[in-house]
Amino acid sequence: MLHDVEAVVLVGGKGTRLRPLTLSAPKPMLPTAGVPFLAHLLSRIRAAGVRRVVLGTSYLAETFSEAFGDGAALGLEIEYVVEDQPLGTGGGIRNVAKHLSTEHVLVFNGDVLCGTDLGAVVDTHRRTEADVTLHLVRVQDPRAYGCVPTDDHGRVLEFLEKTEDPPTDQINAGCYVFRRSVIESIPEGRPVSVERETFPGLLAAGSRVSGHVDNAYWRDMGTPADLIHGSADLVRGVAPSAALPGPTGESLVLEGAQVAAGALVFGGTTVGRGVRIGAGARVEGSMLFDGAVVGEGAVVEHSVIGAGARVDHGARVDETVVGDRAVIGEHCELRHGMRIWPDVVLPPHGVRFSPDV
Ligand code: GDD
Ligand code: MG
Repeated sequence: MLHDVEAVVLVGGKGTRLRPLTLSAPKPMLPTAGVPFLAHLLSRIRAAGVRRVVLGTSYLAETFSEAFGDGAALGLEIEYVVEDQPLGTGGGIRNVAKHLSTEHVLVFNGDVLCGTDLGAVVDTHRRTEADVTLHLVRVQDPRAYGCVPTDDHGRVLEFLEKTEDPPTDQINAGCYVFRRSVIESIPEGRPVSVERETFPGLLAAGSRVSGHVDNAYWRDMGTPADLIHGSADLVRGVAPSAALPGPTGESLVLEGAQVAAGALVFGGTTVGRGVRIGAGARVEGSMLFDGAVVGEGAVVEHSVIGAGARVDHGARVDETVVGDRAVIGEHCELRHGMRIWPDVVLPPHGVRFSPDV
């Protein structure tokens, strides 16, 4: 158990790839399988035995403390440190240094859904007497991530952030163990990227940087497609979490939601509080935020329907993000990564996006 390790979670990003959802909430606070996404990560940190967590916040900083308070409800002690100007990932870690007291510190990107054994990552760090240890996973397309080749002994050779020509499929999973003295060596008071400056600098200086590779469940929730897929994996129990507010299954239906008889709701769909789904509707693998309405015979697949938004009778929404309170009029069709901004009203038959026709 990791009683002697504190954790830092970086949650200061603006979540631009998830707009418009992140106009009103930071990415880690988006409702995901019934709770703010961050609750899933915090529950895993707690389950590993960590007691104290420092959140490095910036964008919409107050939303975190409003939701989690002192952390007692999660069995944690949570402290909040706000960056007035975003300091980047490295600057964010440096900025919380004076709030840390343990010799080794776990650091997390706040938008990763992951099932790794945190105790094993810390063991690798201790066994290899590393200055920093990086959790690494293998992905099909490493170009959107930090590519991290290692040698036969698990020693990190290079850190290549978002490279077009990755030499390996092994990537930075966004979970690190830092020796606290290394955190204190990051320059203070200016933006620093841990990926582009700190890690390459440590490697150039000959520091011991270890990689801990495993094949745990892993997903960065930074794009609509990943958020939707990750949420469905949580609901179905494919991705582990101790924070799911109900049993795993085809759908997670929260309090006050009404699903008409004969509506099909499956594929890891979350049905938020007070949602209404009409007869004959079909909702697959989607996130319906609180108060959303899906009309009779409407079809919603792999989409997010924002809080209080409506998908009217016979409309069809596929791989689409519908902002809060927006209205998708009867028989409209939206597909393939479309995004509807909050409060937009599409009239009946107003939009039909159907490239096959
Ligand atoms: N406090 C603070 N301040 N946090 C920040 C800031 C900042 O200025 N900028 C970003 N963050 C937080 C974000 O909120 C997020 O939780 C985390 O840092 C990573 O930022 P992303 O914007 O999500 O980065 P990414 O997904 O493109 O890439 C990172 O994650 C990949 C794995 O998911 C990199 O670390 C990659 O190397 C890595 O492979
Ligand atoms: Mg990310």
